Amino acid sequence: MQAKIRALLKEKNAIMLAHNYQPPEIQDLADLCGDSLELSIRAADTDADVIVFCGVHFMAETASILSPDKIVLLPRHDAGCLMADMISAESLEARKAALPPMPVVTYVNSTAEVKALSTICCTSANVVKVVNSLPEKEMLLAPDRNLAMYAASKTDKTIHVWDGYCPTHEWLTAADAAKAKADYPEAIFMAHPECRPEVLALADVVESTSGMLRFAHQSTHQAFIVGTETGLLHPLRKQNPDKTFYPASEKMICRNMKRIGLSDVAACLEKMTGVVKVPENTRLPALAAVTRMLDLSR
Ligand code: 13P
Ligand code: SF4
Repeated sequence: MQAKIRALLKEKNAIMLAHNYQPPEIQDLADLCGDSLELSIRAADTDADVIVFCGVHFMAETASILSPDKIVLLPRHDAGCLMADMISAESLEARKAALPPMPVVTYVNSTAEVKALSTICCTSANVVKVVNSLPEKEMLLAPDRNLAMYAASKTDKTIHVWDGYCPTHEWLTAADAAKAKADYPEAIFMAHPECRPEVLALADVVESTSGMLRFAHQSTHQAFIVGTETGLLHPLRKQNPDKTFYPASEKMICRNMKRIGLSDVAACLEKMTGVVKVPENTRLPALAAVTRMLDLSR
């Protein structure tokens, strides 16, 4: 199956991108694994004709927003994001109307329609930089309440919060984190900013998924508690065979991130199915918000 996929990728001049939470066999075959920011940058810069996006729907949509001339394939149409489903264009319009005029910072974990109503996008890797880049003192940050509260704690801006969250990260309670720290007192606790504020208060390091990979690799410490989706344990262990990684909670699994298998990748490439394409009237305003973010991050 791996050989078949590599041959199809070559035949179609396709690139295979995978998020750091994808199943090990998908990550191992991909041309690039990364966090949401790295994958967006690569999707914008690639000269491939086809992008096979192994992640969830909003990631493939972002690739389509950035590269409208390329064919973007999502191998499973049912790989969605529960957080992205917690905000719609209509509900954002209503909230904007209820607030005084202010910029809207939108986490990339959102639909193209929501991005199209936003001033600028952000990811977990650049949220503080994005918030600080705006001249305004007050803004709405949607849809992740935990990311918004984290950004507020790192800046002097007034941040209005949307009441969305990632169920996978919300699973991790402060009691779980405290227990892991008590069980492994020698370990550094790394947490993702999608975690609850009381969990982040216990963390030694708060980073995006690729930020955690870089931190663990460069650190002189030998053991780490990983406060994010358990898919990240695979690249952490692969890149650091001499170090030990403990999940902060075994319950931190995103089912949507686990849907894609090798047979789905092969099938979508063979039949060119699973095309994700954003209509131009949504794409152009969404592109403005995504480009504004990328210009800060490249
Ligand atoms: P990052 O990899 O950008 O940190 O994002 C985490 C996530 O939840 C993606 O769905
Ligand atoms: Fe969405 Fe959370 Fe899954 Fe990421 S881990 S895709 S934020 S539900």
